[in-house]
Order: sequence, then C-alpha cells, then structure tokens
Amino acid sequence: MRTCHGCSLCILSSLCMFSVAVVFMLSVHFCKLMRSSGSNSEFSAQMVELQTKFTRDDQDRPVLTGGFSTGFYVNQFGNSTIRKKTGLSREQKLEQGLARARSSIRRAASRLNLSATVRGDDFDPSGFVYRNPGAFYQSYEEMERRFKVYVYSEGDPPITHDGPCKDIYTIEGRFIHELEHGAGMFRTRDPHRAHVYFLPFSVTWMVKYIYKPLSYDLTLLKQFVSDYVGVVSKKYPFWNRTCGADHFMLACHDWGPHVAKGNPFLYNTSIRILCNANTSEGFNPQKDISLPEIHLYGGNLPSKLLTPPPADAPRPYLAFFAGGVHGPIRPILLHHWKNRDNDLRVYEYLPKELDYYSFMLQSKFCLCPSGHEVASPRIVEAIYAECVPVILSDSYVLPFSDVLRWEAFSIQVDVSEIPRLKEVLSAVSEERYRRFKENLKVVRRHFVLNKPAQRFDVFHMILHSVWLRRININLE
Ligand SMILES: *[C@@H]1O[C@H](CO)[C@@H](O)[C@H](O)[C@H]1NC(C)=O
Ligand SMILES: *[C@@H]1O[C@H](CO)[C@@H](O)[C@H](O)[C@H]1NC(C)=O
Ligand SMILES: *[C@@H]1O[C@H](CO)[C@@H](O)[C@H](O)[C@H]1NC(C)=O
Ligand SMILES: *[C@@H]1O[C@H](CO)[C@@H](O)[C@H](O)[C@H]1NC(C)=O
Ligand SMILES: *[C@@H]1O[C@H](CO)[C@@H](O)[C@H](O)[C@H]1NC(C)=O
Repeated sequence: MRTCHGCSLCILSSLCMFSVAVVFMLSVHFCKLMRSSGSNSEFSAQMVELQTKFTRDDQDRPVLTGGFSTGFYVNQFGNSTIRKKTGLSREQKLEQGLARARSSIRRAASRLNLSATVRGDDFDPSGFVYRNPGAFYQSYEEMERRFKVYVYSEGDPPITHDGPCKDIYTIEGRFIHELEHGAGMFRTRDPHRAHVYFLPFSVTWMVKYIYKPLSYDLTLLKQFVSDYVGVVSKKYPFWNRTCGADHFMLACHDWGPHVAKGNPFLYNTSIRILCNANTSEGFNPQKDISLPEIHLYGGNLPSKLLTPPPADAPRPYLAFFAGGVHGPIRPILLHHWKNRDNDLRVYEYLPKELDYYSFMLQSKFCLCPSGHEVASPRIVEAIYAECVPVILSDSYVLPFSDVLRWEAFSIQVDVSEIPRLKEVLSAVSEERYRRFKENLKVVRRHFVLNKPAQRFDVFHMILHSVWLRRININLE
C-alpha cells in the first residue's frame, strides 16, 4: 500500500505542470440542451432521472443500450459469474440494488427499538446525536454492502492522484490516498459497476503547482478542471449520461468552489465536497457536502488532543479563542472580548509561554469563528478536546449535518449576539453542559482521520454523505 507522501514525487513543479498541460488539451461544453435552471430541486430531479432512466429503452443513448441483457453478474465477493439472461442491464441492476437499499432505510427510519438492529457494540444509537439513528445505521450498512466508487485514472501526480497530507488542507491528500490505495472495499476498477465517479484532483496542489503567486488569477486552475472533465467525458460514457450528477470532487482549499467553476456542470450539478461550504457562495446542501477541516501538523493529530481529560476534570475557563483577525467575524469577536475577561480567554496571538491545546482542554467552550472562509479546524479540534464548540459564522453548512444533530454537541451563536457571549454561555445549565460532553464523546469518532480508515470515521462519513446524495434520500 502506498502511503501519503505529500508530493515527494514531484519536486520539479514546472515539469509536473508540463506533463499535465500536455495530457489535458481538450475542453468541451456539453449537456447544454439537457439542463435548465440552477434551482435547489435540480439535483434531486437529476437523480430521479438517473433512477428512472434505466428502466426505459432509450435509443438516444447507445451507451445504455450497450449494457442491456448481458447477463453478467458480479457477486458481493467481487467475483463474477455468467447468469442466465434476466433482461436487466448492469445499470438497471445497480439501480434496483439502490431501490432495495432505499426501502430498507425507510423501514429502519420508523423503527423505534434499535437494539435488535444494531449489531455488536460499535454503534451507540442512544442520546440525541443522530437525526434518526436507525435510518443512519441502516444507511451506513447498506453503503458497506453495496456502494462502489470508480476513480478516474487519468492525469499524473501531483495534481491528480495526490494531495497534501501535512497541513490545514490535509484531508484532500488523505481522502485521495485512502480511496486509491487503502484497503477499503468501496473502490471498483470496473466503471460499469460504479454508483459514483471520483475526479481525483487536488485544488491545493493546483494552487501550489500551477497558480502564479499573488496573481489572484484562477484561470489556469479552472482550465485544468475544465480539461479534466473534457478528457473523461470524451473517453467514457458516464459524464454525459447524467451531466456529471453522479460525479464528485473534493477540495478543502478556500478556492475549491471557485475552481469548480471551470465546468458549469461540475459547479451546478456534480457533488462538490468542500471545506468552504458557504451558501452565499453557491454551496448547495442538497447536492454538495460540507467537509471538516482537519489540521495535521507534520501529518499527525496534536498528541495532547488524543486523550482528553476525564469528564470530571476541572475546566477553569468558560471559553477560549486564539487566532488572527481575518474574515468578517473575528474583528467583532476580538473587539468585544480580547483581553476583557478572565473567564473568556480571547487572544489574537497567544503569548509564547501559553499552550494552545492546553487551553482547549481547560475550557468548557471553544469559540470557533469563521476566518477567511467559513470552515475552521478549531471545530474538529474542539470536538477532540471535548470542549463544546461555539459556532460563530454566517451561511455555513456544518459537516455531516444531514446525519448529525449539531445542536446536541455544539452551540451556534448569532454574530449579533457576540457582545452578549458571556451571558449566553453562562446560561448553559450544568445538566445541559454534561449532555454536550457526553454527546461529544459519541460524535468524536466521526471526525477522526485514521490510517488505515476505520468504520464510522471521517473518511467513511464523507463517503456516506456521497452515498446519501446518490441514493437521494433524506434521513430525517
Ligand atoms: C466466488 O465467491 C464465492 C464466495 O467467496 C466462492 O464460494 C466461489 O467459489 C467463488 N467463485 C469463483 C469462480 O471464484
Ligand atoms: C427491544 O428489542 C430487544 C431485542 O429484540 C428486546 O429484548 C427488548 O425488550 C426491546 N425493548 C423494548 C423497549 O421493547
Ligand atoms: C459527451 O458529449 C460531448 C459534447 O457533446 C462530446 O464531445 C463527447 O464525445 C461525448 N462523450 C462521449 C463518450 O460520447
Ligand atoms: C450555474 O447555473 C446558473 C443558473 O443556470 C448559472 O447562472 C450559472 O452561471 C451556473 N454556474 C456556473 C459556474 O456555470
Ligand atoms: C461567505 O460568502 C459571502 C458572499 O461571498 C461573503 O460575503 C462572506 O464573507 C463569506 N463568509 C466567509 C466567512 O468567508
């Protein structure tokens, strides 16, 4: 298994850029006539279309008719046998499998007693952390049973098939490496067996290798994306089949959403997994996925956060924040609270002799204001530290919020309430705080990056979000 090497392959960045530029010379616009407006229901409509498409004999689409009645059957162990003809194409069988998954999830959603459903003790359905624990558990199991992802092989490292593994945008590299080289059962080498298609480029590496520093010009990056989609849509039938609705990209870099504009269908129709999940900048929670930002210093989690103190350990500070004054919200926070109050420790730059993570471990609440963009690695660090996150942001869609009830383990404070922050946090009762902390222990696993990935961890939660959008179901 290859490890996440953080682009040691390509020190000569200009060389890499060249090879990439030569491979991707095509840029085409397609699907124009099939699409209408960019409304919220558009994505669902696209998926419904995908689901029903395979039940009719569509003569306009040679790629679909080609798969009919092949009688080719692949079992759950991945080996294949020839079966007698059933009249169903592979695509129809895939959709049939998803329809079964959908109905079993719907049945589980209304089941109240979960003790018979949940096997082993690796899932805790109690508490109020999940919107619908039965539906989530069933959906997760169905995903493990069925979900197949095809990763396009086109392109060279570092911009494709690689990504950062050691910095704030680390999840780009870790996700790509886990999917391409991990032991996971989700990747398929046969694109005809796939439910979704991954475009394995890294926006962070685009910024590093093809962006002209300080130019603020994203044209080359958008061109790369446009060319990549152009190449795979010419070579394979899958993109044109749905105009990209069953394709996904992942980017943690702030510019992810802008770079996705390189192809209008990637932007408006495909599933975009983004840290910068700002609804005022085109993030559409119906189809897009909010990605937690996880800062790995030197490739690892801060060791102090690996073992938070016992639940009854004293937390002398009410709240803590330290960070630069960027973006629209932090100036307000610092204006009202910097060096103002001994209970609310708010710093712009933490004095050298003080330790950032020790503060998190000694505070009851950790303030997580947006910076240059909506996401902040503080949110995940606070969850690790079992310090209740206080979300201070506008237009931010929180990660995995189609499964998790954030209100069970975090507090959202409106920006206009910042002057009253101490009052708001002091009003949280001991009992409510105790429940927050218990719930933080439950959700922690969903935000942890493991190598190799483990059940229910952040890698699997991301894939589960893609799965939910592909089967087009709501887990309320
Ligand atoms: C297919 O997988 C099943 C289950 O592991 C096994 O019993 C069977 O022998 C396999 N068939 C072939 C042709 O490998
Ligand atoms: C829930 O199901 C389990 C296993 O079937 C059973 O033992 C238990 O009594 C049930 N609990 C309730 C409250 O019905
Ligand atoms: C997809 O559509 C584009 C634009 O219409 C076309 O150039 C391309 O050849 C199509 N791809 C396939 C595999 O047919
Ligand atoms: C997305 O769709 C909207 C509405 O059709 C359109 O105005 C917009 O230009 C599209 N975005 C991109 C990046 O193509
Ligand atoms: C979210 O997007 C809006 C519109 O572009 C912008 O004004 C706002 O500053 C963004 N939020 C953050 C935290 O960047």
